[in-house]
Amino acid sequence: MILDLLEGRTPARTPVWFMRQAGRFLPSYRKLREKHSFLELCDTPELAARVTMLPLAELDLDAAIIFSDILIPAQRMGLRLSYTEKGPLLEPPVRALPDLRALHVPVPEEYPATAGAVRAALSELPPGKDLIGFSAAPYTLLTYIADGAKAGAGSPSAGLPERSPELFEALLGMLENVILNYSLAQVRAGVRVFQLFDTWAGNLEARVYAASVAPRIGRIAEALSAEGAKVIYFAKDAWHLMDSVRGLPGLAAVSAGPARTLGDYDEKLGGRFPLQGNLDPRVLLGPQKLIAAEVDRIMKEGRALKGHIFNLGHGILPETPVENVRFAADRAHAGGPG
Ligand code: CP3
Repeated sequence: MILDLLEGRTPARTPVWFMRQAGRFLPSYRKLREKHSFLELCDTPELAARVTMLPLAELDLDAAIIFSDILIPAQRMGLRLSYTEKGPLLEPPVRALPDLRALHVPVPEEYPATAGAVRAALSELPPGKDLIGFSAAPYTLLTYIADGAKAGAGSPSAGLPERSPELFEALLGMLENVILNYSLAQVRAGVRVFQLFDTWAGNLEARVYAASVAPRIGRIAEALSAEGAKVIYFAKDAWHLMDSVRGLPGLAAVSAGPARTLGDYDEKLGGRFPLQGNLDPRVLLGPQKLIAAEVDRIMKEGRALKGHIFNLGHGILPETPVENVRFAADRAHAGGPG
């Protein structure tokens, strides 16, 4: 249904999925994690496909998102990847130009587990549902690689474009190729809807984003769309970058954050794109009365758009009650107010 919408056909209902739907908020996921490490789940196609399908067994959703992580390509580049209590860790951190020599740009064939998971998930996918592939966008992957640990305001990647423009450009260029190949691995395994996660794009100044980051996103999106995939671009906390996003080639849809309305995004983007979003994930913690009001408001706004995929403004919070997510999905499918 999402593919229909992104190819310009009108779907039977507004498609619904949730960012980070295959994760810790689901008791069935937490149970699987008692037996398998996170990376084991990612690296075993049958297990990854099983996790991919978990949310669809419990909720009325229109899409599954392949179970993997945005940091898997960094691991294939030669960095040590681990997940700690405080978040992901990549070692050693890349701090200077010579550090790049130790890194490798994997070809699409170097992701057999991800490709295998895509094929396995596609074989289990009920008719009418889409499988969404994903990758980080180059700058977001750069923050993890440059910082080693979770990115933040005071982290080494924060001032990198100004402090070390050569390293910034060289690493970003390398990551453009890494991400293209990781994305191609998924598209060639059969994914038709693809989301680029630019979780940390909001850290960038609009000037740096427009000059160095946006063109790479446009090139990746164009290359994937040439292979038959439709690309959704998600940039978190990035309202200030939307003037650049508006002009990007290759994008099929843009994911809207919760801080502005869908109408605001539509106006800013010149009505060019179907929009995805934009329920604040915190609303799903709250009483169902609040959830109903917010879902109805967003569904109503969605009707004025070129196309609308109902989703959150960013990822689902791990402490979210499953019944609230079910309530929101069903309410969105019911179509909101009159
Ligand atoms: O459900 C889905 O959306 C599919 C799978 C998926 C995961 N990570 C699984 C995961 C997706 C799409 C991602 C994307 C991802 N990973 C992003 C971009 C999305 C966003 O939230 O902005 C980012 C920044 C990461 C990096 C990452 N991976 C972090 C920060 C963490 C730790 C904390 C967290 O957010 O969960 C991970 C680990 C991770 N990735 C888990 C899952 C289910 C939890 C691992 C566990 O079970 O312990």
